[in-house]
Amino acid sequence: MNTTSQKDVIVITGAGQRVGLYCATQLLKHGYQVVVSYRKHSPGIAALQEAGAHCIQADFSSLTDMAGFVEALSVYPTLRAIIHNASSWQADLPLAPASSSTNLLNQLAQDAAVFDAMQHIHARAPYLLNRALLPQLSGSSTADIIHLTDFVAAVGSSKHQAYAASKAALENLTLSLSRKLAPKIKVNAIAPALLMFNEGDDAAYREKALAKSLMAIEPGPDEVWQSILYLLNSRYITGRILALDGGRHLNLP
Ligand SMILES: NC(=O)c1ccc[n+]([C@@H]2O[C@H](COP(=O)([O-])OP(=O)(O)OC[C@H]3O[C@@H](n4cnc5c(N)ncnc54)[C@H](OP(=O)(O)O)[C@@H]3O)[C@@H](O)[C@H]2O)c1
Repeated sequence: MNTTSQKDVIVITGAGQRVGLYCATQLLKHGYQVVVSYRKHSPGIAALQEAGAHCIQADFSSLTDMAGFVEALSVYPTLRAIIHNASSWQADLPLAPASSSTNLLNQLAQDAAVFDAMQHIHARAPYLLNRALLPQLSGSSTADIIHLTDFVAAVGSSKHQAYAASKAALENLTLSLSRKLAPKIKVNAIAPALLMFNEGDDAAYREKALAKSLMAIEPGPDEVWQSILYLLNSRYITGRILALDGGRHLNLP
């Protein structure tokens, strides 16, 4: 619980829905001044505004939007933490058949668009924001940078290769930044496997996905919140990738 009379400020990106919305709501309940980013206004953002969160619209694929986000944060002299949650789980495009008459340049451009989008949201945005917000994070007596990555960063993915590579880049940034910023700022990643299904996931998909972990459950966003609390409360953990995967790494044949 945040007990200071002047509220500590925590930034969480992409908090209009699902995991980000849940964690932003918990941070408010724990007495923090919460600042969130969103792209689309949504009922989740309306609820956060109503509860006192400072909600800033920004698409992190745009440097102009990112500059606007950093400028809006300049009203806070210090930041207690930034949680990089914003994400897009984009699949790779189907490979064009060898006989395809698709123009090679078009095909390369389409693949590049997916790859760049994944790197932009998962690696470039955290890299740029962490650097831009460093003075305010350094001004806090203790500060945390928390990156939301993914189980697939360590093992790869057949259908989400660009996504997995971008989350692996974010894990590597976790290592570099923790070395650079200790002991003032702790830098860690949380690497979940399945947390929450998407609305359109059918029963067969759900059954297959659940069977991938030893725990075989859909754990929900509270597991991420508990991990964030654990990292915020620690005085010693830095440069770690916290696995939140139901033992999926041991679900061996
Ligand atoms: N859900 C899971 O089972 C699971 C599993 C493993 C890892 N994770 C990780 O856990 C975190 C939370 O997952 P989630 O499923 O709750 O995420 P999510 O709903 O897919 O996305 C979170 C938010 O990211 C924002 N976003 C996407 N692209 C953006 C951009 N270019 N600029 C700014 N914001 C952008 C979206 O904002 P708008 O809605 O406003 O467009 C969205 O609300 C993510 O980092 C994810 O990779 C989740």
